[in-house]
Amino acid sequence: MTNQFQKWLTGGYAQAEEDPGRIALDSLRAFEESGAGRRQFMAALGALAAGYSVNAVAQTIPGPGPFTLDATNGKQYPPQHGMKVMGPVNIHEIEQVSARTLDVAHFEYVSSGSEDEYTLTDNIRAYELTKLRQHVGVDVSRIDTSIDILGQKLAYPIILDPTTKNTVVPDGDRLAAIGAHGANAFYGVTNALAFVDELKQANQCPNWWICQLGHRNRQLAQTWAKQYTDAGAAWLGVTVDHPYTPNRDRNIRNKFHNYQSGVLAPVIPSLTWEYISWLKAASPLPVVVKGILNAEDAAAAVKYGADGIVVSNHGGRAYDGAVPTLVALPECVDAVRGRIPVMLDGGIRRGSDVLKALALGAKAVMVGRPPAWGVAAFGAIGVQRVMELLAAELTVSMGIAGAPNLAAIKRSMVRLPWEEYRL
Ligand SMILES: Cc1cc2nc3c(=O)[nH]c(=O)nc-3n(C[C@H](O)[C@H](O)[C@H](O)COP(=O)(O)O)c2cc1C
Repeated sequence: MTNQFQKWLTGGYAQAEEDPGRIALDSLRAFEESGAGRRQFMAALGALAAGYSVNAVAQTIPGPGPFTLDATNGKQYPPQHGMKVMGPVNIHEIEQVSARTLDVAHFEYVSSGSEDEYTLTDNIRAYELTKLRQHVGVDVSRIDTSIDILGQKLAYPIILDPTTKNTVVPDGDRLAAIGAHGANAFYGVTNALAFVDELKQANQCPNWWICQLGHRNRQLAQTWAKQYTDAGAAWLGVTVDHPYTPNRDRNIRNKFHNYQSGVLAPVIPSLTWEYISWLKAASPLPVVVKGILNAEDAAAAVKYGADGIVVSNHGGRAYDGAVPTLVALPECVDAVRGRIPVMLDGGIRRGSDVLKALALGAKAVMVGRPPAWGVAAFGAIGVQRVMELLAAELTVSMGIAGAPNLAAIKRSMVRLPWEEYRL
């Protein structure tokens, strides 16, 4: 709780020029950013008035789980928050709030893609063109979105992608972790050592996985793997689709972080399949390969020992003109033949998008920009709301599609564009 607010409550601002209403609102905002909601704020207000000191705490409401119709008839699901956070009704509107809270350069860093942004828009358009076929006459009064995947029991099959949120807002990675914890979500991150211990002690640490773009040599890879195994990561991830910094025109125009046109800036161009064996020799954790887009690479990932793959084109931030991930998914699923779980990311903005990906064989999906917009719009609680909203939209979609659980989501529930118009 801010000293400023305490002073206001105890009358210290009675003679001051500050507007007490504004101070209260600022304090509420700080409270929400720290992961606490309006109800906690009101409780804190009462406690402070009674003379107790108060610390902002994260939401203790568990995130979405199996949904059963009850006396509230669904009205209390998903969890409710303050008016500000509940204002935007979908991910698109949370994106719009983030556009107002970030400056142009930061907003475009999150939202833009590389070059002409074909991949970015095609990822989304693939969902638009893929149609749903619902099955009726199924009892869907209880809907279970839970799944076990590579040792993780997920309440719902929507995972946070690794995106460096510290570059989006100060302390973004830690705030997003608190939000993921509040939403009972599995959290992907690129650097976590600075805050996981603190969050564990505060009981605000989500289950999390670490993912980086590889390392230059075996020793660096194994040191990294050991460090993160000891720190409590659940999976080790390697992103394989980013050997060179791509041309990101909007970032270049904004002079964001020294991006330049047409400069060959290597990341880890020497990365090969051997990298997987380096990690596996250093750690017992599952190794997940992110950035697969075709059957040959999916089969190679299995051959070289990957425990899971993510069909991904880096959300259209790497190779422009790449195949949309939803289109690449079926060939990857076929090539893997059930030996390891196939996940997918890129362009998921709705629960119905998740259902389409699961129907085409993904075991789970990941989201990159939505939680990044959430943390920019509202801090930790924004991330929590994004995940709860997507999970709730998926629940609604499953209810309408006639799927009471994830195993009931079938290939027959989607029609691909070329099937739709086949005569
Ligand atoms: C701001 C931002 C930073 C990202 N940083 C990384 C990164 O460091 N490593 C990585 O593997 N992917 C990174 N990504 C890509 C995401 O992990 C993910 O593949 C992509 O965002 C999925 O598409 P979506 O944003 O449409 O959900 C980043 C994405 C964004 C939006």
